[in-house]
Amino acid sequence: MIKIEVNMTIGIDKIGFATSQYVLKLQDLAETRGIDPEKLSKGLLLKELSIAPLTEDIVTLAASAGNSILTEEDKQEIDMVIVATESGVDQSKAAAVFVHGLLGIQPFARSFEIKEACYGATAALHYAKLHVENSPKSKVLVLASDIARYGVETPGEPTQGAGCVAMLISQNPRIMVFNNDNVAQTRDIMDFWRPNYSTTPFVNGVYSTQQYLDSLKTTWVEYQKRYECSLDDFEAVCFHLPYPKLALKGLKKILDKSFPQEKKDVLQKHFDESIIYSQKVGNIYTGSLFLGLLSLLENADSLKAGDKIALYSYGSGAVSEFFSVELVEGFEKQLQKNRLALLDRRQALSVADYERMFFEEAKLDESGSATMSGYEGQDFALIEIVDHQRRYSKVEK
Ligand code: CAA
Repeated sequence: MIKIEVNMTIGIDKIGFATSQYVLKLQDLAETRGIDPEKLSKGLLLKELSIAPLTEDIVTLAASAGNSILTEEDKQEIDMVIVATESGVDQSKAAAVFVHGLLGIQPFARSFEIKEACYGATAALHYAKLHVENSPKSKVLVLASDIARYGVETPGEPTQGAGCVAMLISQNPRIMVFNNDNVAQTRDIMDFWRPNYSTTPFVNGVYSTQQYLDSLKTTWVEYQKRYECSLDDFEAVCFHLPYPKLALKGLKKILDKSFPQEKKDVLQKHFDESIIYSQKVGNIYTGSLFLGLLSLLENADSLKAGDKIALYSYGSGAVSEFFSVELVEGFEKQLQKNRLALLDRRQALSVADYERMFFEEAKLDESGSATMSGYEGQDFALIEIVDHQRRYSKVEK
């Protein structure tokens, strides 16, 4: 009989990130579209966007992010792989099954996909926690992988992006523990959605921002009621980041005006550190909250073990959730400090090249096959489609 440990702590043991090899500078986009660059740099707080070519999708991004954190031992211990996404490549086969194969994870594992817009990864983390509670030796790989595409010359265009955050969930985690304090809210609304026949979403832009902020306020009020706390209990708040300016409005909305200036300054400093990566990557939908968390951890110099971080997750449609984590002793040893330098190695695209990449489609022949090229710079790539089957491979360097 399996013995369930009492007082078990469960949380994030490892965290990593992968994005595409191409970047679009928003200064260039603004000039081409004839808009004031400050509208993007100050109005949205964005600087650059990662752009994914045809050979890079949520599977390759997830495999790259997972590969960046896993050891061979982890691959033998993982018994669940969850890909959270709203940019799936197949209506039936889960991206997690492709990733399971690409990473060489031991066969006796559950692999599946989970979806609720940008909220999916938060649901995946909760499910992973419940699984480890029931099966304490298990490790779960959660991959928050998305490609945000709004369309050329749309209001959402400057808020696109591509990337995956990989998180390994286990007992006795080395980075942070979950505090078991989740409060979720569901509203049946149409603020942002993508029907099966459309490659880009339909968006009620202003309405979506109002819903994001109102869901934040009401979920936060309920959280405070249930857990009798205030923002004073947290060193930082990380937000879903469709674009950082909206999250800044969120912080201001829940910040108690009566707080001492010193506390407000700490929360603002940590907020600024949490948006550094998103400002250079753009929106990665369900991964963007966790990219914010990663950015905070890797760019803040004043966080310490025992600090609590609040997280606000929002997925259009809409489901939101407020919950918190606590840093553990030695968390900083699990982080990577050269990520900004890696982002700066991406190849800059002209706006014309970005548009070409945006509209590129696999040219399938009569048998449903196509050969891809130009993926040499990727870690994993979609290399061909054969009889309608997507074929992925690790790229040998
Ligand atoms: N200098 C500085 N700031 C300027 C400026 C200038 N020259 N010109 C405009 N601005 C400011 C505006 O004042 C505005 O700031 P405030 O919001 O503080 O007023 C900001 O730039 C944006 O300008 P607009 O209000 O004119 O809006 P826009 O046409 O750029 O569209 C948007 C904004 C509707 C959010 C659009 O980007 C969009 O549709 N995005 C996609 C939807 C989205 O991200 N929604 C978020 C909630 S939904 C969600 O969270 C899920 C998800 O990930 C999609």
